[in-house]
Amino acid sequence: AKPISVVLLGAGGVGKSAITIQFVKDKFVEQYDPIVVDGKVQMMTIWDTAGQEEYRALQDGYIRDASGFVIVYSVIDQTSFCDIRKLYERILRIRDCERVPAVLLGNKVDMEVDREVTAAEAKQLADEYHMDFQETSAKNKTGVEQSFHQLVRAIRLA
Ligand code: GTP
Repeated sequence: AKPISVVLLGAGGVGKSAITIQFVKDKFVEQYDPIVVDGKVQMMTIWDTAGQEEYRALQDGYIRDASGFVIVYSVIDQTSFCDIRKLYERILRIRDCERVPAVLLGNKVDMEVDREVTAAEAKQLADEYHMDFQETSAKNKTGVEQSFHQLVRAIRLA
């Protein structure tokens, strides 16, 4: 399979770096190493971005070049979820298309008592944009590997 690049996007502090580290750990010696998805070897580069506004120009470059998108909010931060809509619209504008391979991640699901975003409302948004949806915890690794595999499948189908 052709090498792919995926970019993580989302508000500051939602856990993009933590997710990347959890996924990459034990798997990658370097940033650009193969994983196996559905029995097929996949070369993949992961671009972790900073959530803050001042990095927008940099993000635009990654958005232009990425094969697929990991779009992250935090289930304990309603504001980070509200950002998703304009983030996805921005991706579509930059790419000048109607859909892109993407997975929506609701991270920090280990903090259930502080939950502000339900799985149902997130699933609804993901469906609207034809994205896969997964709740994750970078703390205990819930859903992390599965998310990247879902995205690789979506990229292969695109
Ligand atoms: P920016 O680089 O500012 O855009 O943030 P980021 O999205 O990369 O978030 P980061 O990975 O730095 O995580 C922010 C904080 O949330 C850190 O203190 C992490 O330890 C914590 N964190 C990340 N993921 C989880 C999670 O799944 N569960 C819990 N409990 N904490 C998490």
